[in-house]
Order: sequence, then structure tokens, then C-alpha cells
Amino acid sequence: MIPIERIQAAAERAAPNVLRTPLLPLDERTHLKLECLQPTGSFKVRGFFARALQLTAEERARGLLTVSAGNAAAACSYVANRLGLRCRVVMYEEAPELKKDNVRRWGAVPIFLTHDAVHRWLQDRGWESEPETFIHPFADSEVMAGHGGAGLELLEQLPGLERVVVPVGGGGLAGGIASALKALRPSVRVVGVQSSGYPSMTESLAAGRPLELEAHTIADGTTAPVDATNLDLLQEAVDDWVTVPEERLKPKIGELAARGKVVAEGAGVLGYAALDQLEWGPLTAVIISGGNLAPALLAESLVQLTRQR
Ligand SMILES: Cc1ncc(COP(=O)(O)O)c(C=O)c1O
Repeated sequence: MIPIERIQAAAERAAPNVLRTPLLPLDERTHLKLECLQPTGSFKVRGFFARALQLTAEERARGLLTVSAGNAAAACSYVANRLGLRCRVVMYEEAPELKKDNVRRWGAVPIFLTHDAVHRWLQDRGWESEPETFIHPFADSEVMAGHGGAGLELLEQLPGLERVVVPVGGGGLAGGIASALKALRPSVRVVGVQSSGYPSMTESLAAGRPLELEAHTIADGTTAPVDATNLDLLQEAVDDWVTVPEERLKPKIGELAARGKVVAEGAGVLGYAALDQLEWGPLTAVIISGGNLAPALLAESLVQLTRQR
């Protein structure tokens, strides 16, 4: 797990640049932590500020490089912009247009590769032959420590917290939050959530080694490959796993928008969707991790909802 002192220091570094996101009560025992309201629309700015603010002057001068389904790319672009650094990002050419725009808006240069080529680039450590300073989006322990800041906030915002529900892709978010909670309040149960359209971590845990799966999910933010170190970390840090049937995700986007006035993307809505599969009662925080979804998907989901009523 990530040592609590590192999480506290990382959160402190990032704090002036990120939001202390609000908790929205959904019912008397369930609260949503709105990471979708962070600059660039996801929790990723926490980790990227924490990491970038720790770089040496020489590392900064080389500019930043990351690889991402879209939200880490936007966060890296934003952080570089705020710190006056150059930035390039490797991303899926299949990424939603909105995610590509979010990267360009803050001045980074995107490099588009197919889904498989991105995974190969990661596996082959493609960044080693690039000039910039590489920030790994989910396996960098300092990035994870920064994400852990959301866990520290939760303990202050909900002193009686008993359970936290977290979407999982590469595992950086869950690894950071779980490390913070297990250090300060080990009784809090950490629930990891994935879609049945890409249950990479749950299947890898069952197999005892990282598996490569094909992604068939609108939770595109969670379609990272599995990293062996994170697999070990999550095995220790996550208490329970929920796999949400893929077909339930799209309707949940519209439902959350109508019920909570919250716009979450596919990955961002995973925790909310998982509530139907969890026992009600423990004081629960659900991480709504991101809100960058294609407007057409939001519209379809809302139309589906009105047809049901
Ligand atoms: C919105 C959203 N939720 C969840 C995740 C999963 O985070 P991690 O890869 O750290 O598990 C991501 C990752 O990009 C994301 O963009």
C-alpha cells in the first residue's frame, strides 16, 4: 500500500490546484463524491498535480508525456498548462471527440494510436525512447498518492464512513483511496467496481496474473491494461468487488442526471450503478470519478429514461 505520509504530502501539494469535491447526499446512508466537478472533469488532476509538482527543474524542462483513455491525458495537459510546461499524450484514436478536445484545449499535443497499439506501447515501455518526462497514469505511486487525497477528504466529510465504492480501471484511484482509508480507518470496506464489458481486474485477480481482455464497454475510462504491481496492491486493499452488467450503465447515466443532477460518464457512473448490487445500510460514499461523456450518449440515456416513464 502507499504509505499514509506520502498520501498526506501528495494531497497537500495538489490541494491549491484541485477542488475539495462536494458530497451529495443521495439518501440518508449514501453520498456521492463528485470528482466529476474537478478541473478537466475527473479525479485525475489530483495525481497529476501531486506528481508534476514533485519533479526537478530538469525533469520539468523536458516537458510531460502520458498515455491515457482520455481523462489522464486531459489532466496532464491541464497541469502542464498551469505549470507552463510542454506536454504530449498518447491516447486511443477511438476516444470520444470530447476527450480529444479536452486535451487540445489546454495545449497538449495528442498522439493517436489504436487501442491495441496503446497497450503495446505501455507494455514495451514506449516512453523510454521519448524525450519528455513520463508520468504513468495509474501505476506511478506518487500519482496514486495524489488520488488518495480523495480518501482523506472523505474521512473529514463523513466521519462515520463505513464503505467506499470506487470504479477501477488500471487501479490508481482505488489503490490511492484504499491506501489512505486502510491506514486511517481500516474498518472502512473498499468496494471496487468494473463493468462486465471489461472485468479486467476481477478476472486477473481470479487468475492470479494480469490478463488482457477485449473491451466492450461505454466505461472507456476503465479500459486500461492490468499492471502486476497494482494487481497485488488491489488484492490487499480492495475488500469486495462488484461487476455491473454492461447494459445497465447507459440507463444509469440518465437516471443519475435526472435524480442527482449529476452528469457522469460510463466509468464515472459505475459506482452509482453498483449500488443496486450492494446491501443498503452501511454509511457509504460513492466516487463519481468523471463526467466526460459524449453529449449523444447523455441524450440517448435521457431519451431511454423518458420512454420508461
Ligand atoms: C472517469 C474515470 N473513472 C475511473 C477511472 C479508473 O481509474 P484507474 O485507472 O486509476 O483505476 C478512470 C481512468 O482513466 C476514469 O477516467
